[in-house]
Amino acid sequence: MDQSALMNTYGPRAVKLVKGDGCYLWDDQGKRYLDALSGIAVCGLGHNHSDVTAAITEQANTLLHTSNLFGIESQERLGQRLREISGMDKVFFSNSGAEANEAAIKIARKYGHSKGIDDPTIITMSGSFHGRTMATLTATGNTKVKQGFAPYLSGFVHAPYNDVEAVEKLVASNANVVAILVEPIQGEGGINIPANDYLSRLRTLCDQNGLLLILDEIQTGNGRTGKYFAYQWDNFLPDVVTTAKGLGNGLPIGACLARAEAAEVLQPGNHGSTFGGNPFCTQVADTVVKSLTENGLLDNVIALGNHFKTRLEDAFRNSDKVKEIRVKGLLVGIELSGASAEVVPKALEKGLIVNATAGNVVRLLPPLVMSQEQADFTIDTLIEIINAM
Ligand SMILES: Cc1ncc(COP(=O)(O)O)c(C=O)c1O
Repeated sequence: MDQSALMNTYGPRAVKLVKGDGCYLWDDQGKRYLDALSGIAVCGLGHNHSDVTAAITEQANTLLHTSNLFGIESQERLGQRLREISGMDKVFFSNSGAEANEAAIKIARKYGHSKGIDDPTIITMSGSFHGRTMATLTATGNTKVKQGFAPYLSGFVHAPYNDVEAVEKLVASNANVVAILVEPIQGEGGINIPANDYLSRLRTLCDQNGLLLILDEIQTGNGRTGKYFAYQWDNFLPDVVTTAKGLGNGLPIGACLARAEAAEVLQPGNHGSTFGGNPFCTQVADTVVKSLTENGLLDNVIALGNHFKTRLEDAFRNSDKVKEIRVKGLLVGIELSGASAEVVPKALEKGLIVNATAGNVVRLLPPLVMSQEQADFTIDTLIEIINAM
């Protein structure tokens, strides 16, 4: 087989993975790899998880799709479960992260119109990534991924990340601002962790100005940082939270959760999706969310994250090859002094799957079920590769 029939959106792909089990994947030549990427923060429970596979099988034998013209029991159950976990009031289910953000953007705009603002504007951050649809691409603060797709939508302005004063200035100078959309930690941007009080200060700014605080937890949600949502490390609630990726452990599902006034903005006819919230994906995601919150799994995320941090910092403390180690739970970034792309094929050669992002960052997003032994293999392999560069 060759890839010539596929649009070249992902470039050439050398390895073809055909089977997975736990934290391991196998290619079509039978070679085994330790997965320290989870399909980019998707398979938090690892591959072929018994409860997830059982839920898939059972639901496939029961019902796949009905449309949202009918009530869907698993959609309601998953909605209740996420509501209890998040402190939000209501949820809209989508098929992807970008679509979850589209729902959030539409909530912000309609919220603005309800306040008499005809040109509602959303503040987003430089270095951010919010998706590939035109609205989420416009919201994205990374010029490289936006290049070639102008004209963008109006109604977005960018501020530097981790700079509350810059956001304050934008709010003070623009009466059309209705919302702030921000990642609690920038994932694609290179695992950028802001100051401890960054989000709560943005919360205060939103409260003072009647703005919606929208958190993009598409990458940071579903246990990735050791809390179900990253904002739960702090003591405040956003108005809107979006998530996807780890929510379905591999099935396509996203969610836009909202609270209080923001939860009431979308009314019949305002928004929808043919596939969003279908019986299959919501039944499986309900099992995924339940499993993520059981058996101390999130404690494992925190403990293993600390292990990664300690060992990587010890290994590279005096290295001129590594600038910084950034870790929150199992979001791990190793910022190199040079380009990080060459680490990926070298790791593959040694049976390890990692990722390079933001030019010079090696990104690890291991399954949340990874063992310490597997973490040590990941760390030892990376130390060997980076030291030899
Ligand atoms: C923070 C964030 N937002 C949005 C998206 C887009 O999600 P999707 O690819 O599911 O549309 C991503 C994907 O990487 C992401 O990391």
